[in-house]
Amino acid sequence: MLIGIPQEPLALVSATPDTVGKLIKLGYDVAVQAGAGEQSNYPDSLYESAGARIVGEDVWQADIITALDVPTPEQRTQLKPGATLIARLAPGRNEELIHELANKNLTSVAMDAVPRISRAQSMDVLSSQANIAGYRAVIEAANTFGRLFTGQVTAAGKVPPAVVYVIGAGVAGLAAIGTANSMGAIVKATDLRPETAEQVESMGAEFVAIQAEAEKSEDGYAKEMTADQAAAAAKLYAEQSAAADIVITTANIPGRKSPVLLTEADVAAMKPGSVIVDMAAANGGNCELTVPGEITVTDNGVSIIGYTDLAGRLPAQASQLYGQNVVNLLKLMTPGKDGELTFDLEDEIVRGITVTKSTIDDATSQPAGATADILWPPPPVKVSAAPAAQGSGPDAGANADTADQLASGNEGETKGKAKAWKLLAVLLGIALILASPMQVAAEYMLLMLAIVVGFYVITAVTHKLHTPLMSETNAISGIILVGAILQVGSSNLVVAGLSFLAIVVASINIFGGFFVTRRMLTMFDGGN
Ligand code: NAI
Repeated sequence: MLIGIPQEPLALVSATPDTVGKLIKLGYDVAVQAGAGEQSNYPDSLYESAGARIVGEDVWQADIITALDVPTPEQRTQLKPGATLIARLAPGRNEELIHELANKNLTSVAMDAVPRISRAQSMDVLSSQANIAGYRAVIEAANTFGRLFTGQVTAAGKVPPAVVYVIGAGVAGLAAIGTANSMGAIVKATDLRPETAEQVESMGAEFVAIQAEAEKSEDGYAKEMTADQAAAAAKLYAEQSAAADIVITTANIPGRKSPVLLTEADVAAMKPGSVIVDMAAANGGNCELTVPGEITVTDNGVSIIGYTDLAGRLPAQASQLYGQNVVNLLKLMTPGKDGELTFDLEDEIVRGITVTKSTIDDATSQPAGATADILWPPPPVKVSAAPAAQGSGPDAGANADTADQLASGNEGETKGKAKAWKLLAVLLGIALILASPMQVAAEYMLLMLAIVVGFYVITAVTHKLHTPLMSETNAISGIILVGAILQVGSSNLVVAGLSFLAIVVASINIFGGFFVTRRMLTMFDGGN
């Protein structure tokens, strides 16, 4: 099948010479519209060397078109029936477009509808682009902000660090937090989803919580706020923004207009020279005064950046990541690596992104008047890490109560068992000491103290440090192994038996540790 890469209205392009090479390896032919990669610094010659053909407007006649966004109405008329359009189609907001594509008997795939599950991360264009955009948002803010981000103590006096406040800690927000933190600013962040607190803190920022009950997210996205939450959030945003130098807003609820979080009054209370970057500008904006695509300066000297092309301001990498997302998707949909696109609608990723499915299998013959099947909206997909739903029917509360009771019942039982084990261990310890000769008893005492100290030290280690801790236990296992090998030849059968056991257990720990580390490294390596 032939994949067409058209010229885009933005500086970006949906495939780079690198990703074209990968598409060709999957068995596809690739045609690139002349000049498509020019603005991302990918000249036609590089595409040609990667194996693509350079074509003109006829790029729209390809079997598969990969684009960034919805093509113009004129470009859509050029698509041939049975062809597949892969782009950010925003199907939740584009009902008319879905019907138009179906009427033309086109298959359409929404790159922006990839479910947020671990397996689909490598295809998630919203994440790859928001990551770059979050970084760029801080660069734009720094460019407009007339001061240093980092604090300095110089001979000429002290310079305080800038305070950056990020609202919405999704992909863009976390990228902005990381960038601002690395530039030396004091960073604070808020999100509706309380489960983001840990991520915010791990990026080096302080999580400022909304003091109102929030629901846990089941799909990785936020839900609409309750009235209580909205009031608490509005108060918090006003206070934090007045104290900050830079405010970056990324709040987004899929399928809806972005919520307004900063009112005209909030902006009026901010310090002169402060900067707001409203990343949600394209979807209505998080600030009442945002003008999409522009920088505006208020009467009190606050600059509001409403750029809607932040990722496009770093076009080479944004194009590369978008193109790689497309390659990863086509890898999934081309199991035979034979250049033939297959739609396994049992696969939750493929099902989730397929908006319309053409009735034409062979793109050359079209039954008269046939229209494509509309598969939008797909059945909901739950994020693997999300908690199980409690249900929403009349019994939901009762179920939740029962679950709570069960949980507290189990907890009581577990605590009781733990106490019994501790008591047993202490009694055994005392018996062992009493039954042993004086010198050995002292060694047992030392061992027990070491166990108690070790237990409290290890349980106090934050779970982020568990991996390095595992390496430490590997080293300790090494010491145990050497000791056990020295003792295994003892004439005392108990000593020899215990040494043998220690050799087995320590070896399992050491080799298991290497095995787990290897698996982790392979995962970081993308399975290659
Ligand atoms: P996301 O869905 O991963 O993150 C949005 C975060 O906002 C979520 O964590 C959500 O819980 C939080 N949120 C929603 N309502 C909130 C509220 N009222 N208060 C506090 N937090 C709230 O989205 P992602 O991918 O990070 O994108 C963020 C925004 O940036 C989107 O609007 C997206 O369209 C936009 N974007 C803009 C670009 C530009 O060039 N301006 C480029 C890329 C993304």
